[in-house]
Order: sequence, then C-alpha cells, then structure tokens
Amino acid sequence: MALGSRSRASDGPFVLLISDRPFERAALERAIALVMDCHAIPAGAALPRTRPHLVILDLPPAQAAALEPALAHRGPPVPRLVLVRGEPATAAAHLRQLPAAAPRQLVLANVFAMIETATRSAEARQRRLTGRVSDATAIVAELFDSAALGAGLQRGDVERGTDLVLTAISEAGITAWLAEVWRHDFGVYQHTLGVAGHAATFGAQIGLGRIDLARLVRSALLHDIGKSRIPTEILNKPGPLDPEELRLMQRHPDIGADLLLAQGGFEDEVIEVVRHHHERLDGTGYPDRLGGAAITDLVRVVTICDVFSALTERRAYRQPASAPEALAIMADSSGHLDPTLLRVFAPAMLGADALAA
Ligand SMILES: [Fe+2]
Ligand SMILES: [Fe+2]
Repeated sequence: MALGSRSRASDGPFVLLISDRPFERAALERAIALVMDCHAIPAGAALPRTRPHLVILDLPPAQAAALEPALAHRGPPVPRLVLVRGEPATAAAHLRQLPAAAPRQLVLANVFAMIETATRSAEARQRRLTGRVSDATAIVAELFDSAALGAGLQRGDVERGTDLVLTAISEAGITAWLAEVWRHDFGVYQHTLGVAGHAATFGAQIGLGRIDLARLVRSALLHDIGKSRIPTEILNKPGPLDPEELRLMQRHPDIGADLLLAQGGFEDEVIEVVRHHHERLDGTGYPDRLGGAAITDLVRVVTICDVFSALTERRAYRQPASAPEALAIMADSSGHLDPTLLRVFAPAMLGADALAA
C-alpha cells in the first residue's frame, strides 16, 4: 500500500481523487472535503470498494489507462474529471477534461459543478428506481392475486414486469434494485423481484441476447406463481415446516406449471422453469427427481438465482446470509447446482456485495 492512502471515515457519498502529485492532491483533498468526503490516494494504492460519486484522475496517460478495469463500476458510468497530460480523450457525457496545468480554482469549480450535477441525477435515478420497483411489485401482486383466484394471468402484465426489471437493472444495477426491493416487506413478491433482478444481472453477465434475457426474466417472475395457491400460514410460517406442510409447499412447482399450461400462451421453456426450479443436478430435487441433462440451462440459471436470493433474504426465523456466506453454502452443495454457471455467478455476486458494503 502506497504512502498517504487511508481508509474513508464514513459510508456516505465521496469523491475519489487519484493523483501522483502529492502537494496538489493534498490541496484538492482539503478543498473538496468542505463539500463532500474526499478519498485521495496516489496511483497504485488500493481503491475503495464502494462506488464513488465522482472520480478525479490526475495521472500520466499510461497509469490512468492501467486503472480502467478497476474503475469500472456497475450501473451508469461514474462522472469523471481528468486532468489531462498529453492528448485529451474522446468526449463523453460523463467526462470532463482540463489541462493538468489549469489553475486549482478552475479545477475546484469544475469539481463542485460535477458534484452538484451528479447529486441531482443520482436523486432522479433513485426516484425512477423507486417508481419502477413499486410498479413491478404491483404487477407481481396482480399476477399472484389472479392466480390465487383462478383468473387468467395477463400476458401484458408479465411483459411489463419483465421490461421494468430489465430497465431498472441496466440503469441502476442489482445492488440498488435489491436495496429498494428490500425496503418493504412483501414476502413472496419481494422474493420474486429479487430472483428476477438476479436473473437479469446474471443473464447480462453471460451475454444473453435481448430475447433470451427477456425469457429468463419472465421465467424468474413466474417461477413461484404456484405459491399463490399455498396457504399463507404455510408461506409465512416463522420456522421449519412439518412434513405435511412441506408436502403441500413442495407442490408449488407443479401447481404453477399446470396453471400456466391450462391458461395457454406461455412458452414451454418458461413452464419448464416453473415446474423444475427445485430439481437438483444429482437427482435429489422435486417434483420429478430429474437429474443432469434433463435439467435445461434456463432452469439451471433460475435455480441458482432462486437459491442465492432465498439465502440472502430476510426471513422471520433467521438472519440473511451475506453474499460470501450464501455462495459458500452453494459451492458446498455443488452436486445440486451447475458448477460452470456457479463459477460465472459467484464473482458477479461478490462484486454486487462489494458495492453494497
Ligand atoms: Fe420455488
Ligand atoms: Fe423461489
């Protein structure tokens, strides 16, 4: 660890300043700290794990370029001010550039203006996200209510829910999505939106195209629809289920799949996910004790998202597992889950956990 680096005192928004000019770095840090927490480090020091509000780079071009992968944050690009030595980069909406020799007051005026803009857009983004989560919750509630009453599910609702999840995840990222979803306690709806959010993130991570990604999120939104017919006393029981309750609960995949089948208009792949998301690769799952190749890729992806969501959710009778704890449990029961997919999923979720820290 290079000299001069120190950890941040608070978890609030902060400016990340990386500069190889110690005197300039200290002067900028002092001034910026009047407005917002400033984490000032030399090149080569460990970067903070949380997402900064603004990044200021004051480095030779090669050092700045070497930092790029470590500065890539989930969600929209972090606003950046570069104090340019040599050729300026191609213009971008999130980027401002000033000559490294620019007077300090000019640099500070730009920093403060960028902080103000970033704060305003962060607030607007949060408002949009809150709206999307509440719309998605209303849609999931509507789907579950319709299923409980034996009324048809509206395909349009499923599509709108899928669009909301995909838009919110690409705009705000999984960490902000989950934070908003978990602000309220909606039980099954919350779980559904958690699984859908993880599915959207995971699907993008493995490079699915638009149509496959939408099918994956649609499957995640519907995977537990059979729980709409399970008595709420069982769904919300604050403790382990007795054998009879367990038997009933374990009927939810068949109930859900039969419901979609009876209604018609849902793709076979989606119905497959609903029926088989509790199967395990080693054949010990339910309802059909499928194993290995009989479990489709789409089912495997949703199952991983489902298990991870369930482990990291608040439950009345236990503390939620952290992302590393949940992944440790999942890695340890790898006979159940697809190990290749888990290897892609795990780093992505640890990244999300780091951003949430
Ligand atoms: Fe389930
Ligand atoms: Fe589930």
